[in-house]
Amino acid sequence: MSETSIKTKALSGEDLFKNVISHSKEYGFIFPSSEIYDGLSAVYDYGQNGMELKKNIREYWWKSMVLLNENIVGIDAAIFMHPTTWKASGHVDAFSDPLIDNKDSKKRYRADVLIENAMAKVEEKIEKEVEKARKRFENFDEAMYRSTNPRVVEYQKKIDETNARFKTALDAADMDALRQIIVDLEIACEVSGSRNWTDVRQFNLMFATQLGSVAESASTIYLRPETAQGIFVNFLNVQKTGRMKIPFGIAQTGKAFRNEIVARQFIFRMREFEQMEMQFFIRPGTQKEWYEHWKTARMKWHASLGLGESNYRFHDHIKLAHYADAACDIEFKFPFGFKELEGIHSRTDFDLANHEKHSGKKLQYFDPELNESYVPYVVETSIGLDRMFLAVLSNAYTEETLEDGSERVVLRIPPVLAPVKAAIFPLLNKDGLPEKAREVMDLLKYDHICVCEEKDAIGKRYRRQDAIGTPYCITVDHQTLEDNTVTIRERDSMKQERVAISALADIIEGRVNMKSLLQKL
Ligand code: GAP
Repeated sequence: MSETSIKTKALSGEDLFKNVISHSKEYGFIFPSSEIYDGLSAVYDYGQNGMELKKNIREYWWKSMVLLNENIVGIDAAIFMHPTTWKASGHVDAFSDPLIDNKDSKKRYRADVLIENAMAKVEEKIEKEVEKARKRFENFDEAMYRSTNPRVVEYQKKIDETNARFKTALDAADMDALRQIIVDLEIACEVSGSRNWTDVRQFNLMFATQLGSVAESASTIYLRPETAQGIFVNFLNVQKTGRMKIPFGIAQTGKAFRNEIVARQFIFRMREFEQMEMQFFIRPGTQKEWYEHWKTARMKWHASLGLGESNYRFHDHIKLAHYADAACDIEFKFPFGFKELEGIHSRTDFDLANHEKHSGKKLQYFDPELNESYVPYVVETSIGLDRMFLAVLSNAYTEETLEDGSERVVLRIPPVLAPVKAAIFPLLNKDGLPEKAREVMDLLKYDHICVCEEKDAIGKRYRRQDAIGTPYCITVDHQTLEDNTVTIRERDSMKQERVAISALADIIEGRVNMKSLLQKL
């Protein structure tokens, strides 16, 4: 079978997303949390294959930060932190979403998301007009068309004016102005179809709980809404004990918790999720250059995985978070459109200076080159591990029709990230073939996650491995007993070759090896 004889089904949008969700449950990637009790909204569990994929993504990120950069070290801070941490970081006062309810359907929305979605629809209209014109005219001058076509100009004016009002309202935390934009744009509830809206109210996203066993003396603490603060409060501990010189970074991966109100889109927006964050401590005044450096470095990391460069784009923030002087997202083309995957933020000295103020402890660095002490500035890279997982999974999910008319679902996951690297099949469950397959398994299992499967016809076993993205299937047959060779089948092309068992380890290592990807960074 040649790769050209494989026909890929064109799947996108909602159809693709629905299939990805059901596939990930059916094949042990993701289960709804506590499903036997009907699940818990926006909380998910990772199954046997999901956990391996997630671990591999985390490892690739970790190595790219801590292994490749001599001036970046890792920590693992606690989820619970002193409650003043969140006062100092601004989360108690400013970490909230503006919410609005539709009075008829009682459905609750994020006001900012309603406006952003309405603007995205206007943008779609512009793109449609441009595409139509591109097909109509030879030597199409897109820039000229965009600046002169009356309909496109009108749409663009609407976007620019709304964005300006939107930014002013967000900057001033003016909830009435936000509501007015929703009214002026004539946004209707998707359930009731009505425009009968409540006022917009701010809702803090942090989960609070009690520390201590006696109710009266217990104090309120929060589940961390970001891992970053565990790094900031340990800045001096790490700098002193590691004798770190600026510029240097501290990396951390771990759980974060947010009481998301509009929690939809599967693992895209969860209440319990995992972040991979790196805070890079720099000399004040150098933030622009380091901000650009980390934008480039992080995009290169994404590109190295081969999910398609056109599936990524930068998006500058309209409203800067309370801690940032510049910020952008790396957006990924999920099945539901381009959405934030990673944030890169120039955080100035906001966090360290506020922790100094609230703790009364100096959080300064003595710069021997300048012969002076200062509070360092910080450039942060922050990516959601679960969102990266969704990017990999939705990009990999493919339905194919093969030359003989049969169909398969294959996860074309980058081999370095695949949960299982090789599956070993005895052709028959007799004649000493299972024992020989076990020998092959013993040869490979110390380096890679492998499985040995004896049940069902060989075609069925191939399909099961394709469905979880296993890059290699190895078959042990009668010839193996004579000359110690096996067939090895590659997942994407389905091409098979006969190779010596002694060559297997190198063949597999050649494609699933993280080192070769890291060397490209
Ligand atoms: N320390 C900075 C920070 O937390 P953020 O933009 O709020 O910034 C960073 O979050 C990343 O964390 C996002 O780009 C996203 O990938 C991930 N993330 C945020 N909220 C999430 C949620 N509710 N569910 C899943 N991932 C989330």
